[in-house]
Order: sequence, then structure tokens, then C-alpha cells
Amino acid sequence: MGFRAGFEITSGEKTGKRAEYSLYCGAMKVLVTGGAGYIGSVTVEMLLDRGHEVTIFDNFERGHHSAVDARARLIEGDLRNQAAIESAMQQARPEAVMHFAAYALVGESMAHPEMYFANNVKGGINLAEAMLKNGVKKTVFSSSCATYGQPETMPITETTPQHPTNPYGESKLMFEKVLDWFGRIHGFQNVFLRYFNAAGASAKFGEDHDPETHLIPNIMDVALGQKPALQIYGDDYGTPDGTCIRDYIHIEDLAQAHILALTGRQTGAFNLGTGRGCSVREILKAANEITAKKIPAQILPRRPGDPARLVADASKASSILGWRPTRSTVEDIISSAWAWHKKHPQGYGD
Ligand code: UFG
Repeated sequence: MGFRAGFEITSGEKTGKRAEYSLYCGAMKVLVTGGAGYIGSVTVEMLLDRGHEVTIFDNFERGHHSAVDARARLIEGDLRNQAAIESAMQQARPEAVMHFAAYALVGESMAHPEMYFANNVKGGINLAEAMLKNGVKKTVFSSSCATYGQPETMPITETTPQHPTNPYGESKLMFEKVLDWFGRIHGFQNVFLRYFNAAGASAKFGEDHDPETHLIPNIMDVALGQKPALQIYGDDYGTPDGTCIRDYIHIEDLAQAHILALTGRQTGAFNLGTGRGCSVREILKAANEITAKKIPAQILPRRPGDPARLVADASKASSILGWRPTRSTVEDIISSAWAWHKKHPQGYGD
């Protein structure tokens, strides 16, 4: 890493907000697995805006070619293929790895746990081995609040016991442990970012899954007339309006946390959320107002495995990484998602 003193102009300027200036410790070469996915694409965009050199490694099983930033180098490959990731590591010669590539659907993991352990754990081990062989020791890993399961106390801190309730959460926890041991034995410097509910869009990149299971893109599809009604999975939870509460965090705030984790020297686990919970009905009400559409909804039975309430205590990310979410109001999240979905009514189309 070249430690150049200087200042960096961040994307705050592009969004018309006050320009932010931060101490800059030099451009880094970064390998980003899953850089064509939802959170990966927005983080790649932010890395490139800040002068870092990015190689994306993606198999396009769930990522999109149109979500690849043209300024990044692209290597198409699958983490389950050891030779492919080793070759990518040799070509990219990165100083750090950001690891997003994974399956991330709770319901699917309950039906096909083998997919989740093969891709998220074995694929991750292939990545870690390739790093080791090539002397790469810095990781920023996309972990999840799903590693906590359904804790009895809220908000969730990083010391809340991790008892996943599905193979997806278990696979993320297992790979945290693999990296932790690589840290103790091989000197890996790991940051685990435990996301709560990633939401919203950048001007260029947004959320497009097939099938779509997430709340906000499903609401957008109803607003665009592509689905008849939002299906609300249960209104009999022990919450004020009976619907589930989640901690929605704007993907540009998530991306910002990755930059801080990359350029800082801190290691360990950090929750990324706002500390505020929002119910399904509250999200729907805000979407009705922001889109100026009448979004019909119907109540369905509970979706198996949905915890009633998941809210982060993200004070550690604030005090240690210096992370401050600035775009994660419900209004900003839904407005950005709406702008992207209006521009891309069929998603990326690839
Ligand atoms: N919901 C609906 N209707 C929909 C979609 C979702 O009512 O069409 C509800 C869900 O029941 C839940 C809330 O909206 O209460 C949010 O659901 P999402 O599917 O958008 O998100 P989840 O909280 O289920 O999942 C997120 C991440 C996962 C992660 C999980 C941890 O997407 O990767 O949080 O619990 F594992």
C-alpha cells in the first residue's frame, strides 16, 4: 500500500450534497468477489470513485453484466473452482480482498443447505487459500445479522451470542470462523461487516434478484404495475402494528463502511444498521407517499423463519470505524429505490 498524504473528494459532491474531504492513505489494489451483485456493484463504484484499483471476480450466476462498472477489470469465475480463484489472485495481485460473492436467500438455504455450505463456506475456503498462497492477508467480509438468529434482547450488539436459525446465517458464521482462525494462525487482518437490511440504490446500480423476495423491490414492482399487490407476511407479530420490524440501511452507507474498513487498521466484527426499526406497514406507507401510487397489499400467513424484530446497535462501527450513515432515512432509501426501478422497470435485463 502506498501511503500518500492527501485528500480525497468523496461521492458526496456528485450527489449535490456538501463535499466531504477525508484523509487519504493511498490507492489500493482490491479484488472484489461478487462485484456484479447488489451490494458489490455499489461498493465497486465507490472504490473506483476514490481512486482504488478494482478487479471484480464474479460468476454471473446471480450478478449482472450491466452492474459491472466499466472502470473495473473483470475476471469471470466461480469460487468453487480453486484453480479459477488462484489464477484471478495471481492476475490481480491485490493488497486486499472484499468478499461479497455468496448465496443470500434464507428460504432457499432452508430448502438447499448443501448449496449454501458449498458456495459460502467451501468457496470461501478456496478464496482464503488463494489469498494465503499469494500473500494477501487483508479481508473485508460481507457477513450478516442472520448470524445472530433470533436474539432475545434488542438492539443486537457484536457480543450478542450468534445462534443462526438457518443454513444461510450458519454459512456466514462458519466463514467468519474460518477467517478468524486464518487471522490467528496466518496473520489475516479481517473485518466482518454484519449487514442488517441492505436497501435503496445508487444512481447507477440497484436491487434486481430473480426471484425477488425482498420487501422494497417487491413494493416497487407493485407500484410499477408489475405485481398485483404486496403480500405482507403476517400482521400478528408482537410489534406495534403487527408486522415485522427491520433495520434498513442504504447501500451507499454500507459501501462507505467497506471503504473505512479497507483503509483503516481496525479488525473485528461490526454491525451495520441505523439502530432504528421500521415495520413492513411503515415502509409501505412511505412508499405510497413517495411513489404517489396506490400500492395494494394483502395479508398472508407468516413467512417461516422471519424474526419479529431485528435492530442493530451499530455504535461500535461509529466509534471504531468512524462510520456515520447519512443516507439511511426511509425517505432516502425508498426515493433512491424508486428512481432506480423507474429507470429499470425490467431490472438489469441480463
Ligand atoms: N416481507 C413482506 N413481503 C414481501 C417481502 C418481505 O412482507 O414481499 C417482509 C418479510 O416478512 C420481513 C420484511 O418484509 O418481515 C423484510 O423482508 P426481506 O425479505 O426484505 O428481508 P429479510 O429481513 O428477510 O432478510 C434480510 C436479508 C437477508 C438476511 C436477513 C437476516 O435480505 O440476507 O435479513 O434476517 F439474512
